Amino acid sequence: MRAIHVTEFRNINDIALSDLPEPAIGPDQALVRVHAAGVGFVDGLKVQGLYQTRDPLPFIPGSEFAGVIERLGDNVQGFTVGERVMGLVWNGSMAEKAVIPARSMERIPEGVDFSAAAAASANYVTVTYALTELGKVRKGETVLVLGASGGIGCAAIQLAALLGARVIGAASSAEKCAFAREAGAQEVVNYGDPDWREQLKALTGKRGVDVIVDPIGGEIGLLAFRHMAWGGRFLVVGFASGQIPALPFNLPLLKGATLIGVDAAQLRLHAPELRAKAVAQVMAWLQSGALRPIVGGEYPLARFKEAFNALDGRAARGKIILRLDDLG
Ligand SMILES: NC(=O)c1ccc[n+]([C@@H]2O[C@H](COP(=O)([O-])OP(=O)(O)OC[C@H]3O[C@@H](n4cnc5c(N)ncnc54)[C@H](OP(=O)(O)O)[C@@H]3O)[C@@H](O)[C@H]2O)c1
Repeated sequence: MRAIHVTEFRNINDIALSDLPEPAIGPDQALVRVHAAGVGFVDGLKVQGLYQTRDPLPFIPGSEFAGVIERLGDNVQGFTVGERVMGLVWNGSMAEKAVIPARSMERIPEGVDFSAAAAASANYVTVTYALTELGKVRKGETVLVLGASGGIGCAAIQLAALLGARVIGAASSAEKCAFAREAGAQEVVNYGDPDWREQLKALTGKRGVDVIVDPIGGEIGLLAFRHMAWGGRFLVVGFASGQIPALPFNLPLLKGATLIGVDAAQLRLHAPELRAKAVAQVMAWLQSGALRPIVGGEYPLARFKEAFNALDGRAARGKIILRLDDLG
């Protein structure tokens, strides 16, 4: 089978596709013929050995998957060969076949295609957990989404809107702001403009913003905190800007506001029941058709470098997907 096989930590541009033998499965696992895999910021870090934890070499990257069950281990119940499944694993989905623990698979709802299913498996679950359990977003509250045209940003816009919030998307260009609006933001702010805080103030008045979703960090994240409403919740999701801001402690004090960390990887370890609740919510929204994940680009396997570079170049709009059923 064709796979991205990382034998040394390297930039994605220095990694070649490999031909590997089909993997064996254990009794609690399934062999899934992968059709689509999500390409995330984290995957780009993992292949270079720059993620918080280093994976033992060699490994196949890719955590979000959607595909068809080809074989089932003896202990697996509730699934049949040929079913379409989606989900999230630590690694391994950027290959034509992946070994998936049965507990990590969900059935793909009717009408949801493989790319949308792969796109839904991580960002949408993470953001659902963040907005509901941590941010406790209520109907009518204002949610500001930074990095609004990216994978996390689009998910946050759609999900905050589903929760009945008034959503302001913020991004670094007029074109990205237009994309955020298409994703469902009622208002947009362009933080590429020097007067972006004035634009935000004009939209939120003296009250400020109830909840901020921040996947970028840096100066924009820090300045955004200054626009929190009394009792606001600031959700720290990531640092795509490459900078971890240092928050002066007087700001949360003055606003009665809370800074809350969101980490999907730790959620799995420390509160799997909350993760399961978020997965169930996302699956219900997919099933009812209320949620249609935004796919920003689909790349055949042979063009995997372009897919990764789309994230590096700050160019991604929505979720980037690698198609393993299209060898290019
Ligand atoms: N905590 C968690 O559980 C979790 C889960 C998933 C992802 N994350 C993290 O969240 C962050 C965003 O992930 P994503 O999937 O949304 O990524 P993405 O699709 O690439 O979007 C990132 C956004 O960040 C903005 N950005 C600002 N400075 C940037 C820079 N120097 N390089 C690239 N982008 C920059 C870009 O928008 P503008 O140009 O408009 O600023 C871009 O749209 C990453 O740090 C990722 O590791 C965390």
